[in-house]
Amino acid sequence: MSNEKKTCKYAEKLNEKLDKCEHYQKFAKYRDHILSLGNDSLEKTIAIALSLCFVCAILVSVAAVALRPLQIENKAMDMKKNILDVAGLLQDGTDIHEAFASKIEAKLVDMATGDYIDGDVLAYDQRKAAKDPEQNISLTTAQDIAGIKRRAKIAKVYLVKEGESLKSIILPVHGYGLWSTMYGFLALDADGQTVQSINFYDQGETPGLGAEVVNPNWRALWKGKKVYDESGNVSLALIKGLVDNSKPGSEFQVDGLAGATLTSVGVTNLVKYWMSQEGFAAYLEKVRIKG
Ligand SMILES: Cc1cc2nc3c(=O)[nH]c(=O)nc-3n(C[C@H](O)[C@H](O)[C@H](O)COP(=O)(O)O)c2cc1C
Repeated sequence: MSNEKKTCKYAEKLNEKLDKCEHYQKFAKYRDHILSLGNDSLEKTIAIALSLCFVCAILVSVAAVALRPLQIENKAMDMKKNILDVAGLLQDGTDIHEAFASKIEAKLVDMATGDYIDGDVLAYDQRKAAKDPEQNISLTTAQDIAGIKRRAKIAKVYLVKEGESLKSIILPVHGYGLWSTMYGFLALDADGQTVQSINFYDQGETPGLGAEVVNPNWRALWKGKKVYDESGNVSLALIKGLVDNSKPGSEFQVDGLAGATLTSVGVTNLVKYWMSQEGFAAYLEKVRIKG
């Protein structure tokens, strides 16, 4: 049977079913009544407007459901891109999935002990976990220097290795700026002390002011800076103005963002928090390769 004949047969069957359906008969009667009204009738205007809303709502809902897997895929791809970027492994034309799979290893870390733990590292979402009372800890005011209120008990970190040798440790960090919580990654050398790069992939600071945290020129200033001083305290901080690289201690300083002191203080605080004992210090102590 040709496709055309098949379609006709289905249409006939559908018509037969609709003819027998009481609700459809009522709908058809009302539809004919509405169509017979004049165009300036209030009832017709309202009925047509409501029908349009109904059809649009269905279209938007179908689009939202149908595009959901694509959105999830794009989000995952974007995250991989950010991680490759902070690891210095992103160039024009890089195959994101391939580069991530071959060069980056994700691991789960118990923040209390600094030990790696087993678990579904692919499925684990640290940002979601930070909101779940079962999976987070609340911070006291004294602990909460980064203004985050609570954090996940388990962190997802990323390692870059060349053969067996560790090249970079990539840590997820976040903290409050002036308007928003800024989420990013801090990449350290294998010594757990020297900064390779920082990037913020989600923040809502003012473009041109606080949002300069994403400016590549400012980000480049972080390369080679040191986190811990000789006593093991987190000394890395943004300063007001420009760093004089000839002065002792400049290895712990990064230029503050012009006209955005409050965002700069937020960045300093989030680095202080995540590099401290409350954050990744215990983990870094275990993983770092001493120079
Ligand atoms: C519309 C508007 C947006 C601002 N956005 C930011 C911002 O994103 N981050 C920030 O630190 N300061 C921002 N500021 C400036 C702060 O209010 C504050 O003046 C500034 O942080 C002080 O920095 P300064 O001492 O470097 O001038 C904004 C100010 C205005 C009027």
